[in-house]
Amino acid sequence: MKRIIAPSFLASNFLQLNREIEMVNASAAEWLHLDVMDGRFVPNISFGIPVIEQIRKATNKVCDVHLMIVEPDKYIEAFHDAGADNISIHIEACPHLHRSIQLIHSFGMKAGVAVNPHTPINFLQDIIQDIDFVNLMSVNPGFGGQSFIEHTLIKIKELRKMIEDKDLNTLIEIDGGVTQENAKIIFDAGANILVAGSSVFKAENPKQAIVDLLEC
Ligand code: DX5
Ligand code: ZN
Repeated sequence: MKRIIAPSFLASNFLQLNREIEMVNASAAEWLHLDVMDGRFVPNISFGIPVIEQIRKATNKVCDVHLMIVEPDKYIEAFHDAGADNISIHIEACPHLHRSIQLIHSFGMKAGVAVNPHTPINFLQDIIQDIDFVNLMSVNPGFGGQSFIEHTLIKIKELRKMIEDKDLNTLIEIDGGVTQENAKIIFDAGANILVAGSSVFKAENPKQAIVDLLEC
């Protein structure tokens, strides 16, 4: 099964962004995860369009933008213009999710649906065939450095079953609390993409940490 590591820049050193991006560029990571928070959908504010625009210029990796914001439709075009390749939006923030997914696809980007820890996998039943990946949150969104919620492992298996039953190629991304200790069990449960913030950027050797996560 396809395996991808997506280092999350939320845990990087913003004063050394250039160096952090060069590290990822030279690493085995295929995606680069960018967490956008609005202080409304989540109780924190991170970075936004101008920062992503600059990061885009410095990398050829897949820019995977995770929007933890209300009314994401308003900003899809702007994130596309800033250089996003993928956008995930929260099911809990989108009353017209199908329309929002169509909007992301209309700009040629890959579309993901992000689901909070309390949201049942069942809620993806009628949207899964229209999306490229699910961003299954394994922490409550808003902050890096939190602990992995164990119950996520059950949700990964349920989601994998749903995808197989429908004969789809939808990828499963796991976001939050991924470490060297739990990476294997997460991949084994059926995940494809591991987002890793603290466990990459706070590691002594981040490049090696990415390889270790990939080959766990
Ligand atoms: C949480 C973010 C995550 C976060 C992961 O709101 O969506 O992407 O940056 O950070 P770690 O890997 O430190 O839990
Ligand atoms: Zn994220």
